[in-house]
Amino acid sequence: MKHKEMVYVTPMPVRIWHWLNAFGIITLCVTGLQIRFPDYVNIFGAYRAAIRLHNTAGVVVSISYLLWLIYYLFVAHSLIKQYVPTLDELKSGIFRQAYFYFLTYFLGKPNPHHTTPDHKFNPMQKVTYLMIMLVLLPLVIFSGALLMYVAPLRELLLLLGGIKTLVGTHFLLACCFTAFLFIHIYLATLGHTPLSHFKQMWDGWEEETVDDDKPAPENSQQPTERLREDIV
Ligand code: HEM
Repeated sequence: MKHKEMVYVTPMPVRIWHWLNAFGIITLCVTGLQIRFPDYVNIFGAYRAAIRLHNTAGVVVSISYLLWLIYYLFVAHSLIKQYVPTLDELKSGIFRQAYFYFLTYFLGKPNPHHTTPDHKFNPMQKVTYLMIMLVLLPLVIFSGALLMYVAPLRELLLLLGGIKTLVGTHFLLACCFTAFLFIHIYLATLGHTPLSHFKQMWDGWEEETVDDDKPAPENSQQPTERLREDIV
């Protein structure tokens, strides 16, 4: 027999970071679109206004990224455990999860991954979030900072291939973020209900299906408080 249990998986600092970051990245994408295609996109009026807002959002995203990194490294001490996939997850977990997203989800089969506070992400999420948070986001912040301070960082800029290369790289990274955003939001709707993962990112609690004979995960609600519903 199985029952449903509420598990606290996302602490408040991560939730605050996430929504600040999401808001910042969306602002960067929209203002970036106007900066890149000023003849076709005019959402913020003057070109300079779009640049000012883009730079401000860039600073907000950079600071919130630093806070995210400090939190996971020095407060939660769980960056590696949560974000780095194991060899087994790389060899078979990713395929199992992809098979679920592409096929068995549509046949009503359960998610092969069970969320616990110590093991929040499925193998696909681990690989994607690792790339986004430890490769793409630092790169987009670094290239953006170079473009913000072209004159003082001129030497470094030339060393990296000049302004054209940098602008092209920054734009390509932005395209990756836009693609990630669409896929991320779509996959986030594939929880127990279309909004359950969004609710989890808002209040921290995730609903999980657990075997009756398995010990309750750490941070789960007490049996008396549990949302209990038997499943055949
Ligand atoms: C409107 C935009 C966004 C929405 C609606 C959204 C939604 C969500 C939801 C529902 C979750 C929890 C479920 C899950 O892990 O899949 C989540 C987690 C996450 N999202 Fe987003 N997201 C957005 C933007 C972003 C952006 C721009 C990034 C990165 C640049 C991002 C990175 C992450 C990460 C790393 C997590 C896991 C956080 C943790 O628990 O450590 N999200 N997002």
